[in-house]
Amino acid sequence: MDIQGKRALVTGASGGIGRACALMLARNGASTVVLADIDEKGLADLAADIGRLGAEALTETVDLSDSAAAIAMYESAEKRSGGLDIIHNNAGIMGGPPDFPDDNIGRMIAATQINLIAMMIGTKMGVDFMRARGVPGVIINTASTAALGPLPKDPAYAASKRGILAYSESCKPLHAEFGIRVVPLCPAVTDTPIVAKDAAWLQPILESIRLLTPEEIAREVRRIIEDDGLSGEAVVVNNEPLAQ
Ligand SMILES: NC(=O)c1ccc[n+]([C@@H]2O[C@H](COP(=O)([O-])OP(=O)(O)OC[C@H]3O[C@@H](n4cnc5c(N)ncnc54)[C@H](O)[C@@H]3O)[C@@H](O)[C@H]2O)c1
Repeated sequence: MDIQGKRALVTGASGGIGRACALMLARNGASTVVLADIDEKGLADLAADIGRLGAEALTETVDLSDSAAAIAMYESAEKRSGGLDIIHNNAGIMGGPPDFPDDNIGRMIAATQINLIAMMIGTKMGVDFMRARGVPGVIINTASTAALGPLPKDPAYAASKRGILAYSESCKPLHAEFGIRVVPLCPAVTDTPIVAKDAAWLQPILESIRLLTPEEIAREVRRIIEDDGLSGEAVVVNNEPLAQ
């Protein structure tokens, strides 16, 4: 799909990866970018930057841990934009600190709500919108390389990410049937605020790899949108090892 003239929604838009992806969409000619996040100030700053790039920016302040609020936000984004062609379900949180098993159940539930339930809501509603309008579309769900193996210090995060990977992979037939591509994206460690860089367990990892940048992830998102052959299978973006 050519990004030029398309209408897109990015959740978690105020954060590292979402912000870079929203800017990438505007730079590549998206006509409208709906920006959704709980961080209202971050949304306002980003909307000004998107406007300067010549795209229309619409903001949606929302707490995606509240499923009713999530449903209302997707409805509003579809209506206000005039119909979404690209949906990037991206907002997420980690379970700690403190790390498992000292984490708390409320945070575990919130991680599941935001990382899994809200992404499933956004995928299902996006598919409904695109089918109703009879148009092709691309839905990208930010999972993680944490979906691909165990994460002993944050099992709720790994479970939520493996869940959205399974959901997205299961949407593969929608491509042949309706022209709607659902693509799970699995970034490895990326330099954004979600990464607790002072956590002891992360130190050996941080010392051995080069952190990805949000802009590198945005380049992959652009490739996913533009490559009409990609559907259902995970796009994994790995860290390069640092030279010893
Ligand atoms: N940074 C990494 O190493 C990494 C690796 C793999 C996957 N991811 C995933 O990438 C996505 C983006 O994360 P990021 O790295 O940019 O981190 P980030 O913390 O910079 O961005 C996350 C965004 O989600 C928003 N958010 C949090 N709770 C919310 C809520 N209840 N309602 C609405 N918005 C909410 C935050 O305000 C923030 O803007 C997440 O799904 C994350 O799990 C990140």
